[in-house]
Amino acid sequence: MLDDDFLNSEETSEERLILSTRTEFDEVENILRPKSMEGYVGQEKVKSNLAVYMQAAKIRNEPLDHVLLYGPPGLGKTTLAHIIANEMGVSIRVTSGPSIEKAGDLAAILTNLNEGDVLFIDEIHRLNHTVEEILYPAMEDYSLDIIIGKGPSARTVQIPLKKFTLIGATTRAGMLSSPLRDRFGVLCRLEMYTPEQLAEIVTRSAEVLGIGIEGQGAMEIATRSRGTPRIANRLLKRVRDFSSVLGHETITYGDAVIALEKMEIDKLGLDNIDISLLQSMIYKFGGGPVGLETLAATVNEDKNTIEDVYEPYLLQLGFIARTPRGRVCTPKAYAHLGIKIPKKPKQQLSLFDDENDDD
Ligand SMILES: Nc1ncnc2c1ncn2[C@@H]1O[C@H](COP(=O)(O)OP(=O)(O)OP(=O)(O)O)[C@@H](O)[C@H]1O
Ligand SMILES: [Mg+2]
Repeated sequence: MLDDDFLNSEETSEERLILSTRTEFDEVENILRPKSMEGYVGQEKVKSNLAVYMQAAKIRNEPLDHVLLYGPPGLGKTTLAHIIANEMGVSIRVTSGPSIEKAGDLAAILTNLNEGDVLFIDEIHRLNHTVEEILYPAMEDYSLDIIIGKGPSARTVQIPLKKFTLIGATTRAGMLSSPLRDRFGVLCRLEMYTPEQLAEIVTRSAEVLGIGIEGQGAMEIATRSRGTPRIANRLLKRVRDFSSVLGHETITYGDAVIALEKMEIDKLGLDNIDISLLQSMIYKFGGGPVGLETLAATVNEDKNTIEDVYEPYLLQLGFIARTPRGRVCTPKAYAHLGIKIPKKPKQQLSLFDDENDDD
């Protein structure tokens, strides 16, 4: 039996289990990353296109064209970048937009790449402008343009670089400048995963972690994982804890249900923060439209977090919709929360009524 302390213990951390962004729960993430396209579940369109481009590059004995991977957090961008390098048989150098502070830092990285290497820049939308400008000639002509001197005597020196592949990843393709976006030959948008695909990922991860899981148990975790492999893997680890304490060698359907109920993650993968967001929209703003900034202030969250973390899944479920005047709750959300839709939605007067801060 699970002892009462275990069942009644509060979450030991304040982190949300269903956050799609990386948290301290994801320490085993690297172990669970598939290493080859074969182990990379779903994203069929992206995979089949990439397979063609990679094969063509190999035939021509050229590096792969620059690739931009974009989509919500936790869908497998970093994983895919490593797989591409692996399948091309080249080394990967990993960095991120915010960590490259000066143009010189990027120049140093670029000059150290070998022929065909992959340079992976995570959060590429956060590169600062002067750094970004170094990338343009590097991506286009494999050259570093360096300005030496100042004023009338200034001149540009071009240093040739080895032919490399830049893989950029971003959760916000819209924030990329168009000169940068235009320099990627391959644009791949990652989609949310179906429950069946997530169940496959969960089953494979359980295997890697050395535990068994019933098909129905994997499916139960999958349907509550918000279309996101990172969340699926995280929930699996928590469910495994409950299962071990119950003395089970294989995670059963029952274990999964008990654990997920205990973690207060509902049938659709919503937790109390999502629910309170929807309830605020309904009770405080008559179901909307409500501006993004107002909403963020109401639930005491950052505007970007709302856009990156809460919204993609609620939009996917069709629980909220974006309108030119702000976000609105749909009848589906009312139904899920068991709230009756008022006949004539009362337009609440608020200070923010005219706010239109979308996008
Ligand atoms: N297609 C997939 N098949 C199997 N596992 C996957 C797949 N995609 C992602 N995962 C798993 O999900 C976890 C998170 O993936 P990853 O770190 O690649 O996401 P990301 O898109 O880079 O997220 P972020 O935007 O936060 O950087 C990894 O541990 C990986 O094992
Ligand atoms: Mg990543």
